[in-house]
Amino acid sequence: MQPHRLSMLRSAVPVFFLLVLFLVTYVESLSCYQCATTAKHHECKDDYGGFVNTSMGLTHKYDKNCTAANVNWTRCMILTAQGQAGVETVFHRGCHDGETFSILHDSPKFRGLPPNNQTTCGRIASSRELVCFTFCATDFCNGPQPPPPIPDPCSNTSASYAGDARCGATGLQGTVTLTSMLVCAGILLFALLL
Ligand SMILES: *[C@@H]1O[C@H](CO)[C@@H](O)[C@H](O)[C@H]1NC(C)=O
Ligand SMILES: *[C@@H]1O[C@H](CO)[C@@H](O)[C@H](O)[C@H]1NC(C)=O
Ligand SMILES: *[C@@H]1O[C@H](CO)[C@@H](O)[C@H](O)[C@H]1NC(C)=O
Ligand SMILES: *[C@@H]1O[C@H](CO)[C@@H](O)[C@H](O)[C@H]1NC(C)=O
Ligand SMILES: *[C@@H]1O[C@H](CO)[C@@H](O)[C@H](O)[C@H]1NC(C)=O
Repeated sequence: MQPHRLSMLRSAVPVFFLLVLFLVTYVESLSCYQCATTAKHHECKDDYGGFVNTSMGLTHKYDKNCTAANVNWTRCMILTAQGQAGVETVFHRGCHDGETFSILHDSPKFRGLPPNNQTTCGRIASSRELVCFTFCATDFCNGPQPPPPIPDPCSNTSASYAGDARCGATGLQGTVTLTSMLVCAGILLFALLL
């Protein structure tokens, strides 16, 4: 009995350490959205449904395992660049280490930025482009804002009384019928009195 238990304990030790290792690696891995474009309108900017699907693992369209690509990539980022005329030239979602900036996108302002969702912009000395970085450090935190909800024209009670027939059509119809009935009755009464 005793040796059997001991051997069980012995075999449990490596399993335990493997589990700890697995948990540590799991926690330390970071996934970000990855895409880039130079176009004015592009799915990389506003494909909200596609990003949500990626974050749920339904597709891998925009998914980047930053940890697997580079252990130093511990944050997600959004990079935008504007030319001198104010025209956006680059839009990029991806991974970053917060320290390494290419010469095209480097400014003293970008040193030591915390991954707090705040956007920091700087004018690049060589190109005169205005480059902005937004950093964050949770899985798929560098997505687009959800599209604004489509306003419900019927949410405004005063709007439906103002004559929008799509809102409360039956109620409006009822009122119209009642009004026209009263008008008809009035005309009839008027005619009878004459
Ligand atoms: C997201 O996934 C759902 C379910 O698979 C699909 O119906 C929908 O078209 C996808 N949306 C986008 C924007 O890819
Ligand atoms: C990302 O890669 C790391 C290292 O290869 C791995 O441990 C981790 O499970 C991966 N994460 C996802 C979500 O695939
Ligand atoms: C990660 O950073 C360390 C220290 O700065 C550096 O020595 C190493 O080469 C980097 N690793 C990669 C894959 O870039
Ligand atoms: C940054 O934004 C992401 C996505 O909206 C959110 O999950 C995260 O908590 C935010 N982080 C901070 C530090 O505000
Ligand atoms: C509701 O009414 C207010 C005040 O009349 C107006 O400013 C607002 O735009 C209306 N909203 C809708 C959805 O019609």
